[in-house]
Amino acid sequence: MNIPVDGPDVNVFEAVGGRPFFDALSARFYAAVETDPVLRPLYPDDLTDSITNTAGFLAQYWGGGTAQYSDQRGHPRLRARHGHVPIGLAQRDAWLGHMLDAVGAADLAPELEARFVDYFTMATTHLVNASE
Ligand code: HEM
Repeated sequence: MNIPVDGPDVNVFEAVGGRPFFDALSARFYAAVETDPVLRPLYPDDLTDSITNTAGFLAQYWGGGTAQYSDQRGHPRLRARHGHVPIGLAQRDAWLGHMLDAVGAADLAPELEARFVDYFTMATTHLVNASE
């Protein structure tokens, strides 16, 4: 799926085909979390809600509107929602590594993939809340 996209005002949500893209991305990411010794212990036993809520948040962030997440979950408040999760550099690197693999598997146009890589690099660093 090679989608030619350029220009900052492209609605990425529409350009990638809407919610199914984010459901697939989140499912690929959490399939890696399932067997990751650094990340798995941080998550609830059942990953179902994390998979749905992460897909919804990303779909909303990239232009899908509040029906994707905030209408059900309220304001994202990502740092507050991760307040009980110790996120040091090891957790950040593990999360970012799996998400960039999941993005890489989506076969996006290079300029679109670069926007996801920049976003996740920024967002994961922003959520670091523990020294180690
Ligand atoms: C930096 C490393 C990160 C770690 C270790 C991490 C860990 C977690 C954990 C353990 C949960 C489940 C919390 C619970 O239900 O008790 C969670 C939920 C979530 N995370 Fe992260 N996360 C990270 C980065 C991110 C980033 C960068 C984003 C968004 C770009 C994100 C979005 C979410 C969302 C949307 C939820 C569900 C919130 C809800 O309940 O509505 N996380 N994360």
